[in-house]
Amino acid sequence: MDIARTPSTPDGNPEMADAPPMPKEPPVIRREDYTPFPWLVPVTRLEFELGIESTRVTCTLAIEPNPAVDGADVLRLNGDGLEPVSVEIDGEGASDWRMEDGDLVIPLAHERHEVTVVTRIAPAENSQLMGLYASNGMLCTQCEAEGFRRIAFFPDRPDVLSTYTVRMAGPKDQFPVLLSNGNRVATGEGEDGTHWAEWHDPWSKPSYLFALVAGDLVARTDSFTTMNGRAVELNIYVREGDLPRTQHAMESLKKSMRWDEETFGREYDLDLFNIVAVGDFNMGAMENKGLNVFNTKYVLADPETATDGDYDGIEGVIAHEYFHNWSGNRVTCRDWFQLSLKEGFTVLRDQLFSQDMQGEAVKRIEDVRLLRSIQFPEDSGPLAHPIRPDSFREISNFYTSTIYNKGAEVIRMMRTMAGPQAFRQGTDLYFERHDGEAATCEDFVKAMEDGAGLDLAQFRRWYSQAGTPKVEVALAHDGDTATLTLGQEIPATPGQLAKLPMPIPLKLALFDRATGKHRGEQLVVLDGADKTIAFDGFADAPVLSINRGFSAPVSIERAVSADDLVFLAAHDDDAFARYEAMQELIVGHLVAEVGGGLSDTDRDAGRAAIGGALEAILADEGLDDQMRGELMMLPSQTYIAEQLLVSDPGRIHAAREALKAWLGVRLEDALAALHERASKLSDGMTAEARGARKVKTQALVYLAAGSPERAAKMAAAQYDAATTMTDRQGALMVLCGLDGIERTNKLIDFYNRYRNNALVIDKWFSLQAASLHPAAIEHVKALAKHPDFSLRNPNRVRSLYMAFAGNPHAFHDASGEGYRIIADLILALDPLNAQTAARFVPPLGRWRRVEPGRAAMMRSELERIAATGGLSRDTFEQVSRSLG
Ligand code: TRP
Ligand code: ZN
Repeated sequence: MDIARTPSTPDGNPEMADAPPMPKEPPVIRREDYTPFPWLVPVTRLEFELGIESTRVTCTLAIEPNPAVDGADVLRLNGDGLEPVSVEIDGEGASDWRMEDGDLVIPLAHERHEVTVVTRIAPAENSQLMGLYASNGMLCTQCEAEGFRRIAFFPDRPDVLSTYTVRMAGPKDQFPVLLSNGNRVATGEGEDGTHWAEWHDPWSKPSYLFALVAGDLVARTDSFTTMNGRAVELNIYVREGDLPRTQHAMESLKKSMRWDEETFGREYDLDLFNIVAVGDFNMGAMENKGLNVFNTKYVLADPETATDGDYDGIEGVIAHEYFHNWSGNRVTCRDWFQLSLKEGFTVLRDQLFSQDMQGEAVKRIEDVRLLRSIQFPEDSGPLAHPIRPDSFREISNFYTSTIYNKGAEVIRMMRTMAGPQAFRQGTDLYFERHDGEAATCEDFVKAMEDGAGLDLAQFRRWYSQAGTPKVEVALAHDGDTATLTLGQEIPATPGQLAKLPMPIPLKLALFDRATGKHRGEQLVVLDGADKTIAFDGFADAPVLSINRGFSAPVSIERAVSADDLVFLAAHDDDAFARYEAMQELIVGHLVAEVGGGLSDTDRDAGRAAIGGALEAILADEGLDDQMRGELMMLPSQTYIAEQLLVSDPGRIHAAREALKAWLGVRLEDALAALHERASKLSDGMTAEARGARKVKTQALVYLAAGSPERAAKMAAAQYDAATTMTDRQGALMVLCGLDGIERTNKLIDFYNRYRNNALVIDKWFSLQAASLHPAAIEHVKALAKHPDFSLRNPNRVRSLYMAFAGNPHAFHDASGEGYRIIADLILALDPLNAQTAARFVPPLGRWRRVEPGRAAMMRSELERIAATGGLSRDTFEQVSRSLG
């Protein structure tokens, strides 16, 4: 650990002695170096004198020796940018302390003490949005992962649990509402128009779950009666004008509470549950005990301003944060390497909840699409890491799709192997064993072994090995027997060259070509490097459906005929497998086109197969429109690129657009008819209406490629007739990719209609930045100068630049300008909001997978960033890993 801390100095260079010291590289923190904290902190008392410009914090800790640790002669309290105003030990002013790397170090005999430290902080100047900060005149906190140390000196690590009492005072007109964790135990009036409130949280918690909110807010109030008949008061706090848009969030909360009782036996444990919506927020939401803080994006919705996707997002995130009350708060993490213990498990819980609310098939497809478009590329690039990482420099960089989404897949595989009932016995045992503790991933796996009766000895490798396994699949047929051969290989990832095989649960079925039926689904666990299984009684070669329901997060590699894929796309009774067959059919075609180039005959044959399959999907009356919409979706450019070792983004884009245009022409009548049928059904919030809206916009996407003028008229009409944001946004999305007066007019109309609604204006930025329009780069440059753009609001930054970085034809423009725009953004944003800035590095970090001309430009942008002095830990780490 110390070796990594020491900046390297070249040997034998006499001039080095006089050279200014090299900036210190942020140290590497290693999982294997974990040691428990030498002190316990049973009780914490915080007092806040609140002000937007300046807040005074008095933090009193009751400490005692941790019996699990031999001895200590200092107390080290983490701090980040803090100065102690005063330090008191056992009631006496102390001067025997020192500052070390921002921390407060106090020499102290290993006995019980009371330590009081006063600090003063400046919320208005806090642009990082970590710690205590100001947003729209209110004050709020974000402490996970290491934000508490920006408020008070404290052992800011998740394994130090304490009970908190919080008193806060401030001007009543400015901060009529004063909130913290737990229950409000006292309130009162002070002098000069101030008031105060005292809160007590009876549950012991780590500092990252602390929260405080003060502001001029109003609440939607409701109540929930728990399974044991306890009444819980529920509040969702927002700014006054936003109150009408909180109904869906409240409904989602109540559904989540009931579902967690029914599905996991988890009951809420306080008399009060508060949610606050904040406009300036680094991520989606935060599970602070009894006081969840949310990005407004995941609270506010009505049909006029929020899309169906936004509604689902709210339902899922409300559930996610609520579920953390058990998976995260009652059982927390020992250290940040265990992050997936709470995040992977909680994502699985919110996925299962949303499956129950919205329908299993479509939700599963959406989750897999997200995994493949974000996590798979992460797992095959320079930032690949296991779901339980071994080291980091900045933990904020590890709130990744791997920790969250692959983490959820790993736990889902245990559930698949155990079955839902045994899985529940495993989770029951986990919660019972570790309630009130800071646990590890190993504790979870052990509880699953003991409670669910699984042997997970080899399966543990999923926690330590990065990389998406490739599963080689071959099916042979001879006489009466079909023989399945499976083999696995896990690609090398940074720091992990050789891998061991991992158990891979694969659901499969063999279809009889003639009847279109299979003989029952089976679960096969590929538990070694390879495996062969014989299936008897097949006079003719069957059609294999494998990894049904996406039972394992792997990529399947197999030689399969277009005929078999067309068959599965039409007949498979597993919805995911049906979707998958369609994707495989298209990916195979496009990869061949981009990789080697197809002969005219092969191209015609490929297109005909895809066109025929899509035509059948458009006509299939047995399909509901939500599922039809999924089957209509082309694989994303990222997913296609993922199949190739190195690729030319320009060629992928061109091939994908050409196929889309061909399908738009070939199926023009059917698509227009679908659009017309769906237009009659698309009002209201029923599942049927939602499905209709989904296929409508999908139809326009193809028509825009095949018959742009006709599509522009249809889109403009859809925009004008829209009664929901889903229809209006869908129409504007299509128009943004086209040229013409409709585009200009509707963009102006949209802006004027919604100029006072920040979340909708975010959409306005995003649609233009993500568009297929050839001048998207110019549009982004102009939008960056728009008066409504600001680097200080993460939602706005993401709406413009994440949309742009995810827009392949624009970001990968052959000029390299797209790369420069993102690098300039990172440099401008890093001093203001390092966490958000670092999230823009991964798109540039993919350079090794891009053709040499563009790769050199991407790399040189990363080098330009790396050469800049004073980078944050966040950006330093991501850029150096990406170059490494
Ligand atoms: N724990 C939060 C969740 O998954 C996310 C989170 C972590 C977060 N760090 C954050 C949110 C920083 C905002 C800012 O639900
Ligand atoms: Zn979470």
